[in-house]
Amino acid sequence: MSSDTIESVMEESRKFFPPEAFAASAHLKSFADYETMYRRSIDSSEEFWGEIASELHWFKKWDTVLDESEKPFFKWFDGGKTNICYNAVDRHATGVKANQAAIIWEGEPGDQRVLTYRDLKREVSIFANSLKALGIKKGDSVAIYLPMTPELAIALLACARIGAVHSVIFAGFSAESIRDRVLDAQSKLVITGDGGWRRGKMLELKSVVDKGVEHCACLEHVLVIPRNVSGPRLECQMHEGRDVWYDDIAAKQSSDCPCEEMDSEDMLFLLYTSGSTGKPKGIMHTVGGYSVYTYLTSKYVFDLKEDDVYWCTADVGWITGHSYIVYGPLQNGTTVLMYEGAPNWPEPDRFWEIIDKHQVSVFYTAPTAIRAFMKWGDEWVDKHDLSSLRLLGSVGEPINPEAWMWYHKHIGQEKCPIVDTWWQTETGGILITPLPGVTPTKPGSATLPFFGVDAAVLDAEGNEVDAGLLAIRKPWPSILRGVFGDEQRFRDTYWCNWDGKYYFPGDGARRDEDGYIWVTGRVDDVVNVSGHRIGTAELESAFVEHPAVAESAVIGVPHDIKGEGLVAFVLLRGTDTNGSDQLRKELNALIAEKIGKFAKPEKIIFSADLPKTRSGKIMRRLLRDIVTGKELGNITTLADPSVVENLKSKCAE
Ligand code: PRX
Repeated sequence: MSSDTIESVMEESRKFFPPEAFAASAHLKSFADYETMYRRSIDSSEEFWGEIASELHWFKKWDTVLDESEKPFFKWFDGGKTNICYNAVDRHATGVKANQAAIIWEGEPGDQRVLTYRDLKREVSIFANSLKALGIKKGDSVAIYLPMTPELAIALLACARIGAVHSVIFAGFSAESIRDRVLDAQSKLVITGDGGWRRGKMLELKSVVDKGVEHCACLEHVLVIPRNVSGPRLECQMHEGRDVWYDDIAAKQSSDCPCEEMDSEDMLFLLYTSGSTGKPKGIMHTVGGYSVYTYLTSKYVFDLKEDDVYWCTADVGWITGHSYIVYGPLQNGTTVLMYEGAPNWPEPDRFWEIIDKHQVSVFYTAPTAIRAFMKWGDEWVDKHDLSSLRLLGSVGEPINPEAWMWYHKHIGQEKCPIVDTWWQTETGGILITPLPGVTPTKPGSATLPFFGVDAAVLDAEGNEVDAGLLAIRKPWPSILRGVFGDEQRFRDTYWCNWDGKYYFPGDGARRDEDGYIWVTGRVDDVVNVSGHRIGTAELESAFVEHPAVAESAVIGVPHDIKGEGLVAFVLLRGTDTNGSDQLRKELNALIAEKIGKFAKPEKIIFSADLPKTRSGKIMRRLLRDIVTGKELGNITTLADPSVVENLKSKCAE
């Protein structure tokens, strides 16, 4: 988050009350309702969660709601048997409800598909039987690398249906990133496609997968889904014996596939995310608690009703898409809109055109997108009728008050509440958020904790303070169950503070006089670029793989649209301290190859040295201050203070 943004957030004092008309028909209508329910969720937590869980289908009821005996490995609804696909699909695929649209999909070129709940059950069942035909069984790991087509949602649900563990890899990741994830998760199958549209270009997914899985001994098959369900397949190379076209195998499957009865604590999925050190970590989520928590948060945070058309613009490749495109909204039986492509294709009004055309009522997007729309100009918004909207959401990074106000005025027409939702891959669902008919909002604040969430702002000793580290003091049902294959990393990352008593999310926050929480951003070396989490350590280790590079340091700096952008300081081997444009190109290509194009730095600065403490630690804060032109303060702890002058002149170049 930029320092300008932090300043404007600090000064923000506007307050917006839920519109009466909204509150009158909302699931929760008054702040008093929230307070009563919240108190109960904390004081009688097990009773509370037991009642909520009973709203879903269980093949067998749980024995205990929460088992904390092996903290930090919590068990929720232990002994219970359920299936999230049953709750998201089968439950709604009966009677007249079966004819309601579950997914309305629009492709970037303008093609459309609508799947009712009945269609979805049939498609998911055929997909699940296809997985079985490829030898996939309960507990097997399946990697998914697909564009935003309905088959992406269907693939997740099909895995869940048969108890396979999905590991979705965002389709912008490179071949090497695919390899790391397939190997770490020991995936037997990769599901990909022959293409997908993005900004008028066809993404070549299959060739990236081919390169990524070259040396993955665990891999048995690659399942290739045609982008055009009834049109011609796109050209791609198929490896005899390994690769299978989805339409070929699906044609032979029955549309009857009963849901596997899953133990509540069986793994549902792995999702890789970046941390401050090392390679991305596989965040583990299990079936029961994740089902209950995504169901409840979707219901109250988005106030979902059957007749809503709900649109979350995230990609299913990230946690937001898992929880709030697929599992949460579908468990609530709502209609979900999915869009394949870019927000400004063919013109910067694509989102508003879609809202108008499909009468979207609930819209959930990211601050980086809002800032881009602001820049593109109000005229693109004004061309469209957005009166179908009743609720707006924001996620991914702190929203600066200017963007919040624009969103409120231009998209919400000053009548839609805005829910600024704070959460993470690890939390599985939204933890801090306003409730739309209930909570007065303040631009830039995620406001108050959701039911069952005991959030606090603490100092290092665990005292409550006005500004410090965000902490969650009680487990909630969708808390991560660990880092796959790395228990130590799980303990070191999330349970390193406060004697391991509370969950540490890695964010800083402050609390105001109303108890509202203002998340100020990461306190570790994780940078939030356009809402994507990128570990600077991943870039640094990619840079040093180039033979010309001796060392590097990567930092996040304020960026008008992206929130944060990456700046890389690179030290070359030998005597060259100036580098060249050619080398810059090579280094950018290296990042695209090792991580993905979206991780490309804004700027690469070749420097003769880096500011280090006497013990050899790079002073990243100082690098940030140099790049942003801030007052540098005391630099006497530096091993060699002359480095600073040199860097300043390099930055000015
Ligand atoms: O720093 C916080 C920021 O995004 C991080 C989580 O990133 P990820 O696991 O990729 O999940 C993103 C989508 C849930 C958090 O540690 N973050 C997310 N939402 C907000 C936010 N920061 C402030 N306000 C938010 N609403």
